[in-house]
Amino acid sequence: MKTCRVSQWFLLFLISFSSCSFTEAQKSNQQLKKKTYIIHMDKTSMPQAFDDHFQWYDTSLKSVSDSAQMLYSYNNVIHGFSTSLTVEEAKLMEKQEGIIAVMPEMKYELHTTRTPEFLGLGKSASFFPASAKVSEVIIGILDTGVWPELESFSDDGLGPIPASWKGECEVGKNFNSSSCNRKLIGARYFSKGYEAAFGPIDESQESKSPRDDDGHGSHTSTTAAGSAVTGANLFGFAAGTARGMAAEARVATYKVCWLGGCFSSDILAAIDKSVEDGCNIVSMSLGGNSADYYRDNVAIGAFSAAAQGVFVSCSAGNGGPSSSTLSNVAPWITTVGAGTLDRDFPAYVTLGNGKKITGESLYSGKPLPNSLLPIVSAASASNSSSGSLCLSGTLNPAKVAGKIVVCDRGGNSRVQKGLVVKEAGGLGMILANTEAYGEEQLADAHLIPTAAVGQKAGDAIKSYISSDSNPTATISTGTTRLGVQPSPVVAAFSSRGPNLLTPQILKPDLIAPGVNILAGWTGGAGPTGLDSDKRHVAFNIISGTSMSCPHISGLAALLKAAHPDWSPAAIRSALMTTAYSTYKNGETIQDISNGSPSTPFDIGAGHVNPTAALDPGLVYDTTTDDYLAFLCALNYSSLQIKVISKKDFTCNGNKNYKLEDLNYPSFAVPLETPSTKRGENVAPTTVKYTRTLTNKGAPSTYKVSVTAKISSVKIVVAPESLSFTEANEQKSYTVTFIASPMPSGSQSFARLEWSDGKHIVGSPIAFTWT
Ligand SMILES: *[C@@H]1O[C@H](CO)[C@@H](O)[C@H](O)[C@H]1NC(C)=O
Ligand SMILES: *[C@@H]1O[C@H](CO)[C@@H](O)[C@H](O)[C@H]1NC(C)=O
Ligand SMILES: *[C@@H]1O[C@H](CO)[C@@H](O)[C@H](O)[C@H]1NC(C)=O
Repeated sequence: MKTCRVSQWFLLFLISFSSCSFTEAQKSNQQLKKKTYIIHMDKTSMPQAFDDHFQWYDTSLKSVSDSAQMLYSYNNVIHGFSTSLTVEEAKLMEKQEGIIAVMPEMKYELHTTRTPEFLGLGKSASFFPASAKVSEVIIGILDTGVWPELESFSDDGLGPIPASWKGECEVGKNFNSSSCNRKLIGARYFSKGYEAAFGPIDESQESKSPRDDDGHGSHTSTTAAGSAVTGANLFGFAAGTARGMAAEARVATYKVCWLGGCFSSDILAAIDKSVEDGCNIVSMSLGGNSADYYRDNVAIGAFSAAAQGVFVSCSAGNGGPSSSTLSNVAPWITTVGAGTLDRDFPAYVTLGNGKKITGESLYSGKPLPNSLLPIVSAASASNSSSGSLCLSGTLNPAKVAGKIVVCDRGGNSRVQKGLVVKEAGGLGMILANTEAYGEEQLADAHLIPTAAVGQKAGDAIKSYISSDSNPTATISTGTTRLGVQPSPVVAAFSSRGPNLLTPQILKPDLIAPGVNILAGWTGGAGPTGLDSDKRHVAFNIISGTSMSCPHISGLAALLKAAHPDWSPAAIRSALMTTAYSTYKNGETIQDISNGSPSTPFDIGAGHVNPTAALDPGLVYDTTTDDYLAFLCALNYSSLQIKVISKKDFTCNGNKNYKLEDLNYPSFAVPLETPSTKRGENVAPTTVKYTRTLTNKGAPSTYKVSVTAKISSVKIVVAPESLSFTEANEQKSYTVTFIASPMPSGSQSFARLEWSDGKHIVGSPIAFTWT
């Protein structure tokens, strides 16, 4: 049976690779009756009879189960432990003194040479913090581990490990203490939750250690903070100097994702340790379904991390272009969507009728013969009803042998389709987008000559095939093209708002490069991740919001170095209010899925602009108390608030807590469409949002301006001018939205800017009527 080379979580957060099946042993283990639970304890209610919390946790556990073993005890971002229990035992556990929540294990899915130049880094080195300061910042990456031998982890030129570091370099299979250095300063792995669910890790398949056998974690960590490597490329593509966003920052890896997925008890243990170890930034390119904040252990862990000054960034998910597909929407997390770079990898298709089509490919092997070959669409070469997808074993060799085959995107991984064509005797592949993917072109290191084409080109090729009695084509690959315009465009896969959990909070927060990103790779798998891919590369080019998240993590490290006293919320505000949502010609950033202008539900505040983020002028700072008030506005019970915050916080019954007043750098305004009789006059709805700005620049006076493309909402800001006379001075303002009724399903957008002539502090506004 095929085991999982690359697991299911990739389907969500990395736009690539195949799904897989579990081994028989894993299946039978899944049927075991005990399940993992995370037990959240109220630390303050420990009976005096106990000397320490661990003893108390252990006694609580033993009182419901003699045999249960503690998987982890948690001490920083939550208090409590995880363990395997039967449903009965879990119910008993819930009734124990001092237990605030018993939560079943949840499974999460894992959701560059050109990037620094594209982002305007490197050209203006003088703006950026001195490398000595950056090298004090520690980025924790929760992912599939690292391949420590990569040149991207070279510590040449780096000084001693920051004194604040308290972590470790855990040894394990193929990983020893000399795997860490002054760049990769820490490495840990968390497999207890995974093994409780799936049984012992199969060490012939993956290393029970921080070593990355997969590639994803090496890619994300080198994107955030890889050292500069000259002459980096993938098979000659994207050649140049590869370096992470914060090339001098330190990396600590926390391996939480295994071949079968990532589990909340492991992730929570890793967040817990990363905070204790002294990470300043925590980067998680993974996610699950967006559950209520008090049920989502990533959100719970991130709350306390943020409260302790740690900046937490997460991928928004790869559920686009459908709306309301976001993960990681908690307002204390920075949620990152994905856009393209100005670089692509053209591959050219020539049809028998002389028509030339440009696609995309990273194929680097033996080219097709120069002459025209017969071309066939998979749908007509298969008996399967989903034959167009080139799923394993569905192509009829008699109809495919010696030909180029047109396969539709979807169903299995893009690179797998090429293998299916090859196994049926096909020579080349045209990978055609269906409507869901629009004109988005993702480059892959295909195993046979391939060109990936947009929907329009795919349709044109298919209609040529059906209209010609002897259709032919050829494919020539591969170059690297720079300066592609327009760029960025929003990736089709990037998850979109509106935010279903809290419609008053706009998500994603912003976008960053996430398409065809070159960064470090594992030596344990080929660039396609397929078992049959025996190639080894130091760099790979892949796509996903998994790739955009670590860009923001690295940039947050640069801001942290420049402004060590800024809170995580201040750093996020600077990244958001300086982001751009239009091109230099004034047109709005495009959405590749439909070729239309994007909206704040696609890009949040816009595309990150690191140079501007260093000097934002003003920030929307958000404190732990603000987040607690937000939880009160959600009408959460004291117990639910305690699960998230670990605090005994009672909402003040006399206070009017409003979701609208969370001090967020963007505005989302959900409105109700009144049900009325025809012709009846409906009064406009009035909603008021309050915000507070903190001065991070010289004394200055800011004036507000609002641009709205709509007449259905009147927007009134008061006051219209704010004068700041000293640093860190705070001033509040209100925005009143007076909205006329609109049909249900309507959306409208506006933008609010504060400017002193030198800085522009911009916020998107998004209206929805339901
Ligand atoms: C650690 O591993 C490296 C590479 O596998 C090896 O060269 C080295 O001798 C090992 N060091 C120790 C202390 O085991
Ligand atoms: C497809 O159907 C044809 C005709 O019924 C049959 O001869 C052929 O074996 C089938 N091929 C596959 C791959 O199932
Ligand atoms: C919280 O409760 C108040 C009072 O019942 C209600 O007006 C408000 O809509 C509720 N908020 C949420 C987010 O459910």
